Amino acid sequence: MSSRPENIATSTHTAVDVVLDTAYQNISGAQWANLFSFARKSKLEEFIADMFAGKHINLSEDRPALHSALRNLSKVPVILDGKDVMPAVTEVWRRIEALCNKWVGVTDVIHIGIGGSDFGPRLAIEALAHVPGIESRGMRMHFLANIDTAELARILDRAQPNSTRVVIVSKSFTTLETTMNAKAVVAWLKANDCTKGQIANSLFAVTANVPAAREFDIEEDNIFPFWDWVGGRYSVWSAVGLPIALQYGFKTFEEFLAGAHAMDLHFKNAPLEQNLPVIMALALLHQQETLGIKAYAAIPYADALDWFPKWLQQLDMESNGKSIDRDGRPVKHSSPVVFGSAGSNAQHSYFQLLHQGSDVVPIDFIAVRKPMSDRPEAVAHHRILLSNCLAQAQALAHGKAADNPNDVYPGNRPSNLLLLPELNAFYLGALLALYENRAASLGTLWNINSFDQPGVEYGKVLAKPIEKALLTGLPIEANDSIDAVTAARINLLNS
Ligand code: F6P
Repeated sequence: MSSRPENIATSTHTAVDVVLDTAYQNISGAQWANLFSFARKSKLEEFIADMFAGKHINLSEDRPALHSALRNLSKVPVILDGKDVMPAVTEVWRRIEALCNKWVGVTDVIHIGIGGSDFGPRLAIEALAHVPGIESRGMRMHFLANIDTAELARILDRAQPNSTRVVIVSKSFTTLETTMNAKAVVAWLKANDCTKGQIANSLFAVTANVPAAREFDIEEDNIFPFWDWVGGRYSVWSAVGLPIALQYGFKTFEEFLAGAHAMDLHFKNAPLEQNLPVIMALALLHQQETLGIKAYAAIPYADALDWFPKWLQQLDMESNGKSIDRDGRPVKHSSPVVFGSAGSNAQHSYFQLLHQGSDVVPIDFIAVRKPMSDRPEAVAHHRILLSNCLAQAQALAHGKAADNPNDVYPGNRPSNLLLLPELNAFYLGALLALYENRAASLGTLWNINSFDQPGVEYGKVLAKPIEKALLTGLPIEANDSIDAVTAARINLLNS
């Protein structure tokens, strides 16, 4: 496979000091030329310009996808329907900073939200905790997403009611898991003798549905707005990312935004042939066309990024897991299944399949140059971590012949290497924006609207009559909304 010199010479691209090496994609110069020409034919350049210009690229919901404005630290005006959105964005930054300075003596923060209102801040809090010497403001940051009360119970066991702040995070402010969990936490505050005034001071909301937050009795000053032009899974750059600022300081939050903004500028301005998100998107498309791949894996060789694949699953599969295109026609390709976890642990789990399974699964290996701790062992351990990362990619690319079929590695299994200089807020921001822009590029190449998610609704609707049937506890028969299998299962649960 691709150890051809011409490939090595042209396979490395750098943006924002993040290096992408596609040498093991095994894509020839002529194939790359075709891919870039397909991207141009798909009007990718126009799409990128339209996205940053606030055009209504989310066609089904008739609105823009302007999450880039949330990290536009240059404050260059971003005009949406004739009005600059930057003053409102800047005002929220000012309020986040003021809140950071105000919260003294807070022991616990309970961040209640799910999906896009959870993954981004949870990933950032976990990842940045590993940065040697990072300022930490000492409060315990709890993430409450699941309706399963196990998570609720674990958090409430640890938190101190009198010095807890609760942040309810929901773009819609109608998500059942979030509103139910919020009510449970308020009930816990009351049960622990917090006064009405204390509770009012403790409750905060981050939402695009400000009236619903008011109705929930959140004080006006405690509501942090964002806007319908920010998709839920793209919202960590808004006040949804509040935990980052609260835990590590506003400066760290700004660095996170700065890394993403730098990657946006690259995506917006670099020619397609040097554009990291575009190159990654085209490599994946090539593997769909040539190897018929149905899944890919993201393996960060950084324990701190163990949450990254979970964040990425929502980004890719909620954005592009669709079978009709923007014009309502069946698609040729859409998002492969995405999975992953931190290396080297992952090697001891599903790498058997990646090396010898009957399906080819391309991999993004993500490595970090600097060790992620200041332990005396850090340098030696990090060398081993990186050696493993490089070795896996080589083994997958070339495979190995053997007399015993059991020992044969078929090879020809493509991968990318992404190398971050270090893991800090800036490069974490750059990494997330790289993948966001890659998802948008893929949507364009596949002609998919990456910014809606109609497929998440139907299950929520069906859950309602089922819940009612479980509540009554009475035997039921199949009806218009509950089929025979589900009716039998309800009866089993009710027995
Ligand atoms: O059910 C999917 C979804 O709508 C995601 O798109 C979103 O990130 C999540 O639910 C949470 O939504 P909200 O922020 O409105 O509570």
